[in-house]
Amino acid sequence: MKNVLVTGGAGFIGSNFVHYLLKTEPEVNIINLDALTYAGSQENLKDLPTRGSYTFVDGNICDRSLVSSLLKQYAIDTIVHFAAESHVDRSIAGPEPFIQTNIVGTFTLLEAARKFWLDEKGVSGQEVRFQHVSTDEVYGSLNPDESAFSETTPYAPNSPYAASKASSDHVARSYAHTYNLPLTITNCSNNYGPRQFPEKLIPLIILNALEGKKLPVYGDGQQIRDWLFVEDHCEAILAVLKKGTAGETYNIGGENQPTNLSIVQTICDLLDEFKPDPSISPRRSLIDFVTDRPGHDRRYAMNIQKIRKTLGWQPKHTLQDGLRETVQWYLSNTQWVAAIRTQQEYQQWLTQNYTKRETKR
Ligand code: NAD
Ligand code: DAU
Repeated sequence: MKNVLVTGGAGFIGSNFVHYLLKTEPEVNIINLDALTYAGSQENLKDLPTRGSYTFVDGNICDRSLVSSLLKQYAIDTIVHFAAESHVDRSIAGPEPFIQTNIVGTFTLLEAARKFWLDEKGVSGQEVRFQHVSTDEVYGSLNPDESAFSETTPYAPNSPYAASKASSDHVARSYAHTYNLPLTITNCSNNYGPRQFPEKLIPLIILNALEGKKLPVYGDGQQIRDWLFVEDHCEAILAVLKKGTAGETYNIGGENQPTNLSIVQTICDLLDEFKPDPSISPRRSLIDFVTDRPGHDRRYAMNIQKIRKTLGWQPKHTLQDGLRETVQWYLSNTQWVAAIRTQQEYQQWLTQNYTKRETKR
């Protein structure tokens, strides 16, 4: 792993991965390819560690000639593919970009890698690696008594987002099986932590609660997610890159099962502690149960025995510690928050997604 193409490295997890890799692997050369959609920002790439080398390319993963020329120009030996449309609610409002970026974009990268690594260079499996970053949402939704998703759970995606990721996983898998492209797939649960775009539950609730705005909880708030601190995800990906076996899939998760409502309540309590404000505390009073997300998955849970046993990875942060650190990050990074909050596109999204949602109780 010397010359690493990171796609989507200006987004939430990708930018955390760029920071993490430069910190832990000082010899690495990173090429960050990102189209800077609403979700990508140079704000996420400020104050990068100065070790290693880092180049940013503003471009689209669907642009085949750009991707092919980057592979050659920088002699890329490792691709870590994060770039995606990632928000479920947006995929419900307008699925088309999800099909384009998540499926066609992944295909474009796979095809460019196949041509460059296998056809032109004739490299062996030890020299190169394509790491496809995916999600637990490909497995669908669990009932309360069902066991956690394992790597052999059949795919049953429910939202256009999940279907586009499932599709990209299948295309990626076929490249490993048919062409022997040295490839690993990771399916991870909900991430949270610094630099997450405030359309997602945790940062949205932190920022609304800070300002004394209503806290929209979809449906009854009893949906369950498995939450992982983003740096733990970055560490898991590095473990897969270094020790994972080509052709394998690894599930990654935080091994916790809180309801959405309990996450929102915890954030309220943390903000009451860090930023007491008699005019809006207790912030739990801001909770607003609103119209549910169509087709809302009820429960996710990840079985992480494979990565724990074979690669020795497990999450380092408890949910309690991770949430404290996350709330503190949003309180300390006021410039980052202001830059995103004033984005017109973001304000339009908030209006589009929340104004028509009715209070349910
Ligand atoms: P994000 O939305 O924060 O960032 C996505 C990044 O991809 C942005 O920087 C955006 O500009 C870039 N991008 C989008 N379309 C592009 C295109 N066509 N070409 C180049 N760049 C493009 O997403 P995230 O939450 O950081 O997720 C990263 C990856 O991890 C995704 O593949 C997602 O499916 C997966 N994942 C996310 C989570 C989570 O909880 N956030 C959990 C599991 C897996
Ligand atoms: O499980 C992994 C997935 O987690 C990733 O693949 C996705 O990219 C990522 O966005 C995330 O998907 P979710 O839909 O689970 O995340 P989100 O933060 O949008 O919502 C988390 C839960 O909170 C979900 O049950 C919906 C609920 N929710 C969300 C928002 C934005 C609310 O109740 N109110 C809200 O305003």
